[in-house]
Amino acid sequence: MELFKDKVVIITGGSQGIGYATAVKMAEEGAIVYACARREKTFDHDNIHYHPLDVTDEDSCRKLFEDIMEKHGKIDVLVANAGITKDAMTRKMTGEDFDSVINTNLKGIFNLVRYFGPKMEEQGYGSIVAVSSVVGEQGNIGQANYAASKAGIIGMCKTWAKEFSRKGAQVRVNVIAPGYVLTDMVKSVPEDLLDKFAGQTMLKRLAEPEEIAEVITFIASDKASYITGAVIDVNGGMRL
Ligand code: CAA
Repeated sequence: MELFKDKVVIITGGSQGIGYATAVKMAEEGAIVYACARREKTFDHDNIHYHPLDVTDEDSCRKLFEDIMEKHGKIDVLVANAGITKDAMTRKMTGEDFDSVINTNLKGIFNLVRYFGPKMEEQGYGSIVAVSSVVGEQGNIGQANYAASKAGIIGMCKTWAKEFSRKGAQVRVNVIAPGYVLTDMVKSVPEDLLDKFAGQTMLKRLAEPEEIAEVITFIASDKASYITGAVIDVNGGMRL
């Protein structure tokens, strides 16, 4: 049986990396997936549709909500995955670089959930999965902005796990905290540091995007119907 048959799924940052791997997995399980990104992309899979979205732009977020409501009248799953890095040692980090990471990674999720969360509550069901990071849990040299955004996601999602279910709606809100994953994002990291990070895991390697997508798919699905307000570490044992 298909896990997401006829379910409407939105994935931000859906055109590459973890987001794209998740889009493919959910589409294979029968979902109608809207893979959202700033730049247009065509997908091979019939069930994956591109939708333009800039999570920092409130109008763009509202437009996505309106389009989905017009087409489907419901939302089953929101995977809030879009994220950026602007790494620098704190003494060199500009206020602009701090703000832009917070605006994308943290406020960008709020900009969507302020529409989709209450809609899920009204429907009586729904699942939100936000992608944080091991960096949000333990910090990382050169990532004060990113660590703050990813730690913020955890508090924000726990709040929503409480808010949207308080009248009995089966709305679940969970966080996935990956370690280092082999995507374009980590390509900016010096190779010696990547080796060091791999060495800090119990498995002595970085993750493939599909290994994260698998967990997001499970947590988003009805198979995880009793999991909410959780932070799921998927980091190869980097942080025990
Ligand atoms: N651990 C230990 N030491 C570190 C370090 C680390 N993670 N990062 C930097 N340092 C040390 C450097 O070795 C250097 O030491 P010395 O002063 O003794 O020479 C010092 O800190 C300054 O570092 P740089 O010389 O590299 O300084 P820079 O200004 O040229 O660059 C930087 C700073 C941009 C932060 C660069 O160090 C860097 O790219 N670091 C990697 C940051 C990182 O891990 N980003 C993760 C991106 S992927 C992601 O974010 C996904 C996710 O969720 C995990």
